[in-house]
Amino acid sequence: MPAQINPSILSADFARLADEAEAVGGADWLHVDVMDNHFVPNLTLGVPVVESLRKATGTPLDCHLMIEDPDRWAPAFVEAGAGSVTFHVEAAAAPVRLAREIRAKGARAAMALKPATAIEPYEDLLPELDMLLVMTVEPGFGGQAFLDIMLPKIRRTRELISRHGLDLWVQVDGGVSAETIERCAEAGADVFVAGSAVYGADDPARAVAALRAQADA
Ligand code: DX5
Ligand code: ZN
Repeated sequence: MPAQINPSILSADFARLADEAEAVGGADWLHVDVMDNHFVPNLTLGVPVVESLRKATGTPLDCHLMIEDPDRWAPAFVEAGAGSVTFHVEAAAAPVRLAREIRAKGARAAMALKPATAIEPYEDLLPELDMLLVMTVEPGFGGQAFLDIMLPKIRRTRELISRHGLDLWVQVDGGVSAETIERCAEAGADVFVAGSAVYGADDPARAVAALRAQADA
């Protein structure tokens, strides 16, 4: 599969979200960071914004829930139009039930791991998921420095998936840029979230194309 680039609208202008989505028209997905000031120390947006964004763009929405109680909220994000919903395993009360519910409602189900969370305890959950998100910064803010020490976890995640004969996507999020994307791809990631590297560029659409070319090289 060619590399997928998902610009994070956390780095966009929230007063002009429709235009900002348009500015990265060539993106595979739009990454939507939902934060509740409990799971992470920051507060962003919720279901109504996803509903409006769904109507404003044809690009599918990849919702990353950095919230407590994803068991309660994830289904509402699918109903609001998310094509993929990612919950953090550290916050989920019943990850298997939650992944099944997300899928049953028609979205791709993804599970995220904070930097200090290992993949190995969750090996048996892999068949329930469409994507694993390996965080490459502590979740909460855009523009942080990429954590190189996450590269072995990306590699181990990809190996576990292959060993089970599954075809989950491996997403990386945090500090992904022209400087770091090749290392992520080489370690086995195939879906790349980029906030500041896309929206901080003079031409966001070109930045998406350039990142994709680098990841595929
Ligand atoms: C951070 C968010 C990221 C963030 C990435 O907690 O999950 O999606 O927007 O931003 P950059 O690419 O600037 O690190
Ligand atoms: Zn994110």
